[in-house]
Amino acid sequence: MYGLIGAMSLEVEALMARLEDRCEKKIGMDVFVSGKLFGKDAVLAVCGPGKVNAALCAQSMILHYQPEWILNLGVAGAGDATVSIGDMVVATAAVQHDMDTSPIGDPVGLVSKLNLVEIPCDETLRGKLVRAASAVEGVRVHEGIVATGDQFIHSGDIRSRIHDLFRAKAVEMEGGAVAHACYAHGVPCCVLRSISDQADGHSDMDYPTFAAMAARHSQQVVENLLSGE
Ligand code: ADE
Repeated sequence: MYGLIGAMSLEVEALMARLEDRCEKKIGMDVFVSGKLFGKDAVLAVCGPGKVNAALCAQSMILHYQPEWILNLGVAGAGDATVSIGDMVVATAAVQHDMDTSPIGDPVGLVSKLNLVEIPCDETLRGKLVRAASAVEGVRVHEGIVATGDQFIHSGDIRSRIHDLFRAKAVEMEGGAVAHACYAHGVPCCVLRSISDQADGHSDMDYPTFAAMAARHSQQVVENLLSGE
């Protein structure tokens, strides 16, 4: 069984539509839909935006479905100027850019309890995702840090700060929390993001224009990944 989590319905609806032999289960406020996706056992969920929603959903998925791996997919803002709208980022690791206990001597971004700044992604899954993403026509694929926080980034200064601190290639609101839950339970995990905006002063305009296209691309990667397995 493979687990797939998107924050918004836009990010998984094309996959939901392809899910066969569907079975729905509500756990807390999350609805999990399991079935066959491109011939493979899979469970899908829309977790809602933000780290707490994502962590709750990932933990419920792990405890109720025991997935072999979990992929958090969807859209993101660009982490720096080398990443453009329409590009994809496959995470080498995820960070929580708004975690900050530096006033008491910790590095910025240190995730308490895990005692890590960078939560590593599974290398095997990452390699498969890079190959599956490279097969999507006209899309450039980057590998690097995905930075997660409870805010929609729409300022070049904030984006630069996150990039300077973590070398982020993408900024979003859930990957670091899904990775956190997976790390805690020893479940392999990766984050795949398609860029919908530059996370700068134009992101409030770019996002509604490009989110649907970006969301489609990341779902296309999942189709390539599962069909090729
Ligand atoms: N998801 C898509 N664009 C984003 C942004 N600019 N900041 C945070 N999450 C995002």
